Order: sequence, then structure tokens, then C-alpha cells
Amino acid sequence: MAVTQAPNTLIPLNAMQIISAIADQRSALKGRGRVVFVPTMGNLHAGHISLMEQARAHGDTVVASIFVNRLQFGPNDDFDKYPRTFQADCDKLAAAGVSVLFAPTESDLYPEPQEYTVEPPAIQNILDGEFRPGHFRGVATVVLKLFNCVQPQAAVFGKKDYQQLMVIRNMTRQLALPIDIIGGETVRAEDGLALSSRNGYLSAAERAEAPRLYRLLNDIRSAVSGGETNYLDLENRAISGLTAAGWKTDYVAVRQQSDLAPPKGGNAALVVLAASRLGTTRLIDNIEI
Ligand code: PAF
Repeated sequence: MAVTQAPNTLIPLNAMQIISAIADQRSALKGRGRVVFVPTMGNLHAGHISLMEQARAHGDTVVASIFVNRLQFGPNDDFDKYPRTFQADCDKLAAAGVSVLFAPTESDLYPEPQEYTVEPPAIQNILDGEFRPGHFRGVATVVLKLFNCVQPQAAVFGKKDYQQLMVIRNMTRQLALPIDIIGGETVRAEDGLALSSRNGYLSAAERAEAPRLYRLLNDIRSAVSGGETNYLDLENRAISGLTAAGWKTDYVAVRQQSDLAPPKGGNAALVVLAASRLGTTRLIDNIEI
């Protein structure tokens, strides 16, 4: 089924509308009940499709977006090589029951000169933010723009990007946006590797090695659930295990779920998060404890 992406047109595809103009997007959703929105950068896999299914359970009309957001990529990140698979993505979204796909053009979403951005607070500088300066500014800016274009009642973000979910939740609350933010569960391959668009960059040998990250996070979860409180030791042991297997680790960190700060004792719910590089591919993962 051939789909061309033309600005300012509506193209039916198995009852899924593909919209690129912001004005068309706003008018397309009138009278469509509770709209649940799932923003993506395309190159969709089963993890994204699971978010679409979760979205269907929360409303009447599911709207997805595909936009590869230059602003959230650093100078050494993979913006240029990020896979663009628009046609295949459309087929998957239509099959998943998505009603509307919003695929804005870069010039519409970022009118030149783009001078206003959303500046998240200190949370943008820890964990992933420490290693990807400006990343969460780019995410918050594009998500606010997409929210303004789609004007949904709810939006689903995967827990795989745990810090991103928190940045969006906080932004939505603090800017009083009338949108419920829903955290979607991470989907994993049989060997435990969290599904990610970046898994496609892994060689066969790296793909075989990749589940180590999940196994080590699981070991930490078991130890903490068993009463271990020396988090630094657990983190360092996991980093050593990764280094010995050829990974280059940015962080392994046990944090409080509520604010991603280091645990302060008591009964706070915890999460263990990690980012590590296998060859040139940076993988992130986390498990709630
Ligand atoms: O998680 C993603 O795919 C992106 O960060 C998002 C939320 C679509 C913003 O570009």
C-alpha cells in the first residue's frame, strides 16, 4: 500500500488518517471522544505497538505521531543515521488500530528561528542528562509542541525511558496541562533485552551479549529486595561485570522512583537504571524494585 507524505493533506490508510499540517491535526479530532496520544520517532517495534494497545485501553481515539526530533540529539548522537521507516510504520500503526497519525514537517514544528524552548529543572542534568546535555530540553520542547498540536486528554510514554517519563510527568503537572500521563510497561525479547529502535544497530555478536545489561539489573533488584543497602557496591559490581564483557558504562544507579534522587533510607520505592555502550550502540534499561 503506497503512502506518500505530503504536507497539508489527509491520506486514508485502512481508516487511519495521516496528517502533516498542524491545523488539519487540530480539526481532525473534534467529536472523537477521549483522545490518547502516543508520540514516537518512528522505526516502530513491538514495544511501540504495545504502547498503542495500552493507549486504546485508555480512550476512544488513539493518535500516534512520528517525528525525528533533531533538538534532542547531541552533536555526536545518531540523528542522521536514525532509521526512517515511514511506510512500514504506517502499516504497523494502522494494524494496531491507530486512528490518526500526525507526521509534521520539521519546518512546521520548528519555525525558524526557533528561539523558545522548555528548560526542565535539575533532573535534566542527572543520569542520562549528564551524558546527553540538552537531551531533555529537546524532548520537553517537542513534547509540549506535539501536545499543543494534538491536544489529547491522555498520553502514553514507555517506562523504558524512565527519566523521560518523569520529565514529561513533571512538565505536565507544573505547566497545568490537562493531560493524564500514562507509563507504558517495557516490552522485552525472550532473552530479556528491552526492545529499542537502537537494537537494530547491534551486530549478531553484540545482540547475543546485550541481555547482560538486563541480567545485571535483575541481580541488583534481587539483592535490594533481599535487604542489601550498599547500593554503591552493587552498582560498582555491575559496572565491573559490564566492563569485563567489553561494555563502556555511563551509569548504573539505584534511585528513588519518585524523583530519581539517591535513596535516603526508609521505605521509598526504588528503581535501578543503567546506560552502557556495546560497540557504538548505547543501550539504556531500568527495572522498578
Ligand atoms: O521516546 C521517544 O521516542 C521520543 O523521545 C519522543 C517522546 C517521541 C520525543 O521526541
